[in-house]
Amino acid sequence: MSKSLFRKKSIAVILKDAHDGLTEGHGGGGSKLQKVLGVKDLTAMGIAAVIGAGIFSTIGEASFHGGPGVSLLFIITAVTCGFSALCYAEFASRVPVSGSAYTYSYVTFGELAAWVIGWALILEYAIGNIAVAISWSGYFNNLLAGIGLSLPSWLTSNYDSATAEIVASAPHIAGVPVILNLPAFIIVVLVTYLAYLGIQESKRSANFMVGLKILVILFVIAVGSFYVNTNNWHPFMPNGFSGVMKGVSAVFFAYIGFDAISTTAEECSNPQRDLPKGMIYSLIICTVLYILIALVLTGMVSYTQLKVNDPLAFVFQAVHQNWIGYIISVSAVVATTSVLLVFQIGQPRIWMSMSRDGLLPKRFSKIHPRFKTPSFATIITGIIVGVPALFLNLTVVTDLTSIGTLFAFILVCGGVLLLPPQEKADPNNKRFRLPYINGRWIVPVIIIAFAYLFREQLPQKFSFDGGWEVWKHNIPFFFFAVAAIVFSVLSFVRKLSLIPVLGLLSCFYLMTEIGFRNWVVFSIWLMMGLVIYFGYSYRNSKLNQVRRITLV
Ligand code: ALA
Repeated sequence: MSKSLFRKKSIAVILKDAHDGLTEGHGGGGSKLQKVLGVKDLTAMGIAAVIGAGIFSTIGEASFHGGPGVSLLFIITAVTCGFSALCYAEFASRVPVSGSAYTYSYVTFGELAAWVIGWALILEYAIGNIAVAISWSGYFNNLLAGIGLSLPSWLTSNYDSATAEIVASAPHIAGVPVILNLPAFIIVVLVTYLAYLGIQESKRSANFMVGLKILVILFVIAVGSFYVNTNNWHPFMPNGFSGVMKGVSAVFFAYIGFDAISTTAEECSNPQRDLPKGMIYSLIICTVLYILIALVLTGMVSYTQLKVNDPLAFVFQAVHQNWIGYIISVSAVVATTSVLLVFQIGQPRIWMSMSRDGLLPKRFSKIHPRFKTPSFATIITGIIVGVPALFLNLTVVTDLTSIGTLFAFILVCGGVLLLPPQEKADPNNKRFRLPYINGRWIVPVIIIAFAYLFREQLPQKFSFDGGWEVWKHNIPFFFFAVAAIVFSVLSFVRKLSLIPVLGLLSCFYLMTEIGFRNWVVFSIWLMMGLVIYFGYSYRNSKLNQVRRITLV
């Protein structure tokens, strides 16, 4: 059994399966996906997935803790995501099928790791979308209030955040107050319907929404810069580097999404050339916009005022420009809708790949004969996102999404290290190739340099003075330190490629900053996944059937 847990699919078999699936249809659907996406669409989809709840909501609290220094965190996170994007791009050019990190792990680490990653990706896509729907609802309610309309507060809240007043005003069923976030549920239903209808419709809507949100963000940067008071940038890190790092989860959440376009590989006209470009272009555009926004935001008001859920609208209200605040609320609604759409498209396509491999029931890869979308998987995604969005609160879900996504990025970077070297470049084939930089000396030197730079903080990380309650928060860092040493040695001995090693270690480091409690919840999530794997997927895997046929 232990051997079969690491059974792998070769790249050739994956490409063949995807091709057969495309021509014969999955799950008896008898249909194929449409190849309509080019570089521009993919870049737009990347931006559509990235700019959303993070920049419009969660960075408020990050700026409150980190001060203007949060712009530094945007750079650190961009570099980390940049390494991962290059690794995603390498995989996308070699394995141009829909499963994203799930498929990439199947090729490199084998089936068990692929399942684990597919399971972790649910945190990024479905659970992440719950957060986005909740944020959407917040801005939508702002909009309604702006035009003098408002829903009863028990229809726009959740049990965790409801005040005593909301509980008192809510109707009661069998003594239990009914408190629901109805707008969050409705937007999920509408977006799921759009994703169900077709990739063409989704593409058009995403392109339109992206155009609008970029215009509004440029407008905010341009107008906001006139209100910047440079005194607000001092001190740059009022709570030190640790204050800045408190925002890791929120800032990383803001970047999540560029990888989502890799799930549309089978709907691209030239995935090997266009997917890598789409990911890298969208990441660069978002990084520039984010750094500028962070500087404007923390320059317009003191960071101490930014502990709000609608920071961009708030800073304009603070300088008495309420009408701009209103425009921002409109664009936040549009921006978060496009994130919802791309993630709602991504999740079913990952399940489609898992179902093709036999790890999920066949129905998950059924393609709708008329709309050419994975219809059953799309509906299930709608239910899994929509129902919890009625009841949950924002922060619980953003932390979980960030930790799950960082884990996926680590496996993608690690997977690149296991790929066989590419054949010689063919001048006619413009597919992306990750540049090889020998990490033999650079990795150990970087690790030693960081250890030296943070020499004063390191002893605290390993000290047991505060007892278990304090020390347990250092466990993630302890794992990171071990990984850093192991990869320094491996880089030296095996001349590992620099970019994936730095990607892996930087993602691992950011994970250590997301807090022990989230590590525990994440571990429980992974355990649940393993129960399903051993209960269903292991036996039903196509590779298992191949083995059985061979044995017979
Ligand atoms: N990056 C996406 C957002 O901020 C998930 O909404």
